[in-house]
Amino acid sequence: MRTIDWAGDAIEMIDQTSLPDRLEVLRITTVAGLVEAIRRLAVRGAPALGVAGALGVALAARTGESIDALRAARPTAVNLAWGVDQAAARLPDAEAALKRALEIRDADIAACVAMGVRGADLVETFAERPVRVMTICNTGGLAAVERGTALGVVQTLHERGRLAEALALETRPLLQGARLTTWELARMGARHRLVADSAGPFLLARGHADVVLTGADRIAANGDTANKIGTYALALGARRAGVPFVVVAPESTIDAGTSSGDKIEIEDRGAGEVVTIRGVQVAPEGTRALNPAFDVTPRDLITAIVTEDRVWRPR
Ligand code: MRU
Repeated sequence: MRTIDWAGDAIEMIDQTSLPDRLEVLRITTVAGLVEAIRRLAVRGAPALGVAGALGVALAARTGESIDALRAARPTAVNLAWGVDQAAARLPDAEAALKRALEIRDADIAACVAMGVRGADLVETFAERPVRVMTICNTGGLAAVERGTALGVVQTLHERGRLAEALALETRPLLQGARLTTWELARMGARHRLVADSAGPFLLARGHADVVLTGADRIAANGDTANKIGTYALALGARRAGVPFVVVAPESTIDAGTSSGDKIEIEDRGAGEVVTIRGVQVAPEGTRALNPAFDVTPRDLITAIVTEDRVWRPR
């Protein structure tokens, strides 16, 4: 099923906070409900947020709610504001706004297929034999509408018989890798192992992966890329180990209005997610914490950025 879709008069989405324990579908009928779902990461991942933003405008056109809170619900993934703006440009015509939102949904599905092919073609040039891929966070169908970006490349490699193994970083604090990426890899039937985040760079140094594939939440005009926290450490480790580091993202994630990575706003999600793991307190009561949800990988550490249209080598 699709991660997010329009269902006649409401948005339907997989509640990603329930996975991997339960596959539950949420029916969202108000913008306020959508904002709440985005903030608690029931729907997440840059491409899915773009579709959520656009469909949210279609909802707003029906309920009369403001779209300001929707546009600002999460600040780092540029796709959310982009999707809102794309559909809002058709207001006050509610049907035209919905039509634009559905176009964005369909374009995302096609873009993910194209990125999968282009990315797999590139990765196949890195090794003669089936490849071992390392990835972080969740960039699969759950992060888009149907198929995903970096994990879409993994899926294409798997379908071609060219995937030896995927190593998924667990992705603290919210464990998108442990909860969601392993769930998707298992459903694909792809061989995979879960890795603690801190083991990633060392495993690269020991030659356990042929390529690192990640998604992106915002790519600055110069190629600096914001993605899930931990990506920068992986890029440093990949550079030191001589392993290609490839970003896979749709063109809509490239933000021409942001010149470089230091201008990208990084979402701070508060201490609660760090001092707990899935609701269980793991630090002494009262422990203070820092929780940047994303980091920025400078373009000189990026081998290539694969989009639906091109392979961009920003360095
Ligand atoms: O906080 P999240 O789970 O929304 O973060 C998601 C990521 O960092 C992904 O890597 C990125 O959005 C690309 S998803 C194809």
